[in-house]
Amino acid sequence: MSHWLIAGASRGIGLELARQLAQRGEHVTASLRSEAARETLAAALAPAGKAQIVSFDTRDEAALCAAAASIIEPVDVLIANAGAYGPQRQSTLDTDFDGVLELLSTNTLGPLRVAQAFLPLLRRSKHPRIVIMSSVLGSMALQGTFNIGYRASKAGLNKITQCLAEDLKPEGIAVISMHPGWVRTDMGGPDAPLDVTESAEGIIGVAAALTLAETGRFVDYRGEEIEW
Ligand SMILES: NC(=O)c1ccc[n+]([C@@H]2O[C@H](COP(=O)([O-])OP(=O)(O)OC[C@H]3O[C@@H](n4cnc5c(N)ncnc54)[C@H](OP(=O)(O)O)[C@@H]3O)[C@@H](O)[C@H]2O)c1
Repeated sequence: MSHWLIAGASRGIGLELARQLAQRGEHVTASLRSEAARETLAAALAPAGKAQIVSFDTRDEAALCAAAASIIEPVDVLIANAGAYGPQRQSTLDTDFDGVLELLSTNTLGPLRVAQAFLPLLRRSKHPRIVIMSSVLGSMALQGTFNIGYRASKAGLNKITQCLAEDLKPEGIAVISMHPGWVRTDMGGPDAPLDVTESAEGIIGVAAALTLAETGRFVDYRGEEIEW
């Protein structure tokens, strides 16, 4: 039984990751930021070998530290999943700057705050891994100009992930950037081709098999490489 920590598990891909891991009997710690989600998350975690719910907003360092202090056992796999799509106005010619700044705090710096907060618990694992939830929309190779705030937030996150992977390699901690596919969730919308079940199944498979040989890569939920 491995100990998985899912940051951002109140709904969507994060909730499905927590549900599937619990069904496999894993030890799952999952986070929410609104108490309204507790009942749903607790039900998803019921079959787990061991389970804990922690509460934090990824923009809040103090809450992250308090959550980390409440966890006793080493963490084997951290999935920094929490993310947002941002404000309505985020084109190059019409930008909600305050809204995009908030988005950068959540999407670009949030996963790094999460990684730093839980690093002491990962360092105590025999096989520590970090999966950072990114998006193909952050790829420099992808054309198109819609939602620049979201795209820039994930492009910046990809660079942070590359650097984190390099810095943690000497400690034996593998770090990858993950595109979960275009998934039918609140964020992905009803037209997305991929079911959340298939995406989460793939992400768990990639994370479970992750070693230092793959560290620093940008892959999708099937483990296929994506151009930065
Ligand atoms: N769906 C897709 O097609 C798709 C494609 C590419 C990448 N992604 C990425 O995959 C991840 C999950 O996406 P999703 O589709 O499951 O999105 P979702 O359904 O909108 O769920 C987002 C999750 O992130 C949490 N969250 C957002 N901001 C947070 C913050 N500041 N602090 C703590 N938690 C926060 C939400 O919590 P609350 O319930 O409290 O808001 C919720 O649990 C995101 O990083 C997203 O960018 C998704």
